[in-house]
Amino acid sequence: MARKKIALIGAGNIGGSMAHLALLKGLGDVVMFDVIEGLPQGKALDLSHAGPIEGFDGNVIGTNKYDDIAGADVCIVTAGIARKPGMSRDDLLGTNAKILTSVADGIKKHAPNSFVIVITNPLDAMVTLMQRALGFPKNRVVGQSGILDSSRYRSFIAKELNVSVKSVHAMVLGGHGDDMVPVRSSCIVGGVPVEKLIPAKRLDEIEARVRNAGGEVVALLKTGSAYFSPASAAIQMTDDFLFDKKEILPCAALLEGEYGVSGYYFCVPVMIGAGGVEKVIDINLNAADKKAFDESLSHVKDIVQAMNRVLGVA
Ligand code: APR
Repeated sequence: MARKKIALIGAGNIGGSMAHLALLKGLGDVVMFDVIEGLPQGKALDLSHAGPIEGFDGNVIGTNKYDDIAGADVCIVTAGIARKPGMSRDDLLGTNAKILTSVADGIKKHAPNSFVIVITNPLDAMVTLMQRALGFPKNRVVGQSGILDSSRYRSFIAKELNVSVKSVHAMVLGGHGDDMVPVRSSCIVGGVPVEKLIPAKRLDEIEARVRNAGGEVVALLKTGSAYFSPASAAIQMTDDFLFDKKEILPCAALLEGEYGVSGYYFCVPVMIGAGGVEKVIDINLNAADKKAFDESLSHVKDIVQAMNRVLGVA
């Protein structure tokens, strides 16, 4: 069987980390595309030199031409600008909307059958734009958000209780902004609800930290935003797609009636397999979580409207 082809659109921090992970995990051949000449080529050459040490045979190339993504099975989009301290994800809207419009042209023309994962922020608006511009069915365009947000929640809970991260399951749903919704009742540690292990007041603090975790990283880095963890999240989605794993993960999917939402990308649990987003899992939220979910949705609606104004769409 021929190797799968993974196209990374944007060869910056997240793009570079994803290329490394995809090669280490043997997911396939990697094409790194960027508008900056030399950047993707240099990273690809460097990565290829790690092959003999790590024992991976996947090919990796860097390019400034969309022709080279031809026939990609998966396209992962990080093209755009990242946050600097003091910026919200929404501040990236105008610049990144224009960049993603051009990226959609390239993908549509050269990788029309690919599964597309969007990471560029503001995520919920950018994945909406991508699906509209591509015209691909909704199962083939998805946003990376909740795996990362949930992983942050899991990591903080594991540290708090001094247990393995593998024993902590959690789900953060809603928009990929500061009003995301950590679903406390879904946080389970070794089969025990977290609420039985950590006092409510402390959980409030941890969940506030989860909501601001991306900003906390930006404030420390000063020159950009998180990249190792978003890369891991998108590579997990890629692995699930390429190997038909049917894992249930929180991702931004286009909702058409589920959770009472229609026509918006929003993070909910979905099943990812060879068919892309094969199923949206409708879970029953309690009243408090539903309220937070609806508040987050109203923010996503605002940002999509703002994007429509930027793009001149009614
Ligand atoms: N086509 C392809 N690549 C582009 C384009 C374009 N039209 N415009 C910009 N880029 C490239 C930049 O040249 C840069 O190399 O996108 C890359 C972005 O990389 P970084 O600035 O390192 O940003 P990164 O940390 O990878 O984050 C990318 O993901 O999580 C989000 O908020 C984050 O929107 C940001 C995106």
